[in-house]
Amino acid sequence: MIDLHCHILPGLDDGAANDAETLKMAEELLAEGVDTVVATPHVSGVYAPDLAAIKGKVEYCQELFARHGLPLRLLPGGEIAMSGDTLALWRRGVLPSLGGGQAVLLELPPLFLTEGVRRQIEEWTAMGTLAVIAHPERNPALMRDPKLVETLRHAGARFQLTAASLDGQFGQAARDFAESLLRRRMVEYVASDLHPRRSASLKKAAKRIKKLCGQEIADKLLRENPRTLLSAD
Ligand SMILES: [Fe+2]
Repeated sequence: MIDLHCHILPGLDDGAANDAETLKMAEELLAEGVDTVVATPHVSGVYAPDLAAIKGKVEYCQELFARHGLPLRLLPGGEIAMSGDTLALWRRGVLPSLGGGQAVLLELPPLFLTEGVRRQIEEWTAMGTLAVIAHPERNPALMRDPKLVETLRHAGARFQLTAASLDGQFGQAARDFAESLLRRRMVEYVASDLHPRRSASLKKAAKRIKKLCGQEIADKLLRENPRTLLSAD
């Protein structure tokens, strides 16, 4: 399994604080059946690791895993908090793509989704870059107005659920919205968004999606679509 969203790199954001936490997360992901992880530290106003720092930490952790006999492949990425200048920064090549390919992992502004957000997504789509929106089920603006999910999909965005939303780790409202998005077939990817003191819950999510949508969709969201995304260079 490929995990497209994970805060496993130590010391860059509110994810792993040190090597011990990174190793613990790697062990958990391996136990969940993951063999490849895209490391996606927050890239926002609060945390702003640059590309070189992310790539350096990925190399460092890959060696750390090898020393500890953990067969987990790491790729560089980032979870980019969208703002008015995100697209301009992307064009300058200073933001991480998702796994080094032609996709970008975006966190929407939490409270208000302006027309500018939709326009940026349209521009990404026009450039041939896939805009993947992280955890729509936890975004208050989308929860308030679920039709916006369709508007953004129409602009080319695709959506990534956090697995743990399906077992209630983010509350009942996020769980209900996650399930309704699944039923409406509005989701393409499921990932762990793992941080310390949360659990990945990928296997549990696979079971729940199988129950809601069938085995074929569960395989698509957790396995096939992430693989296709990473192979589309
Ligand atoms: Fe995240």
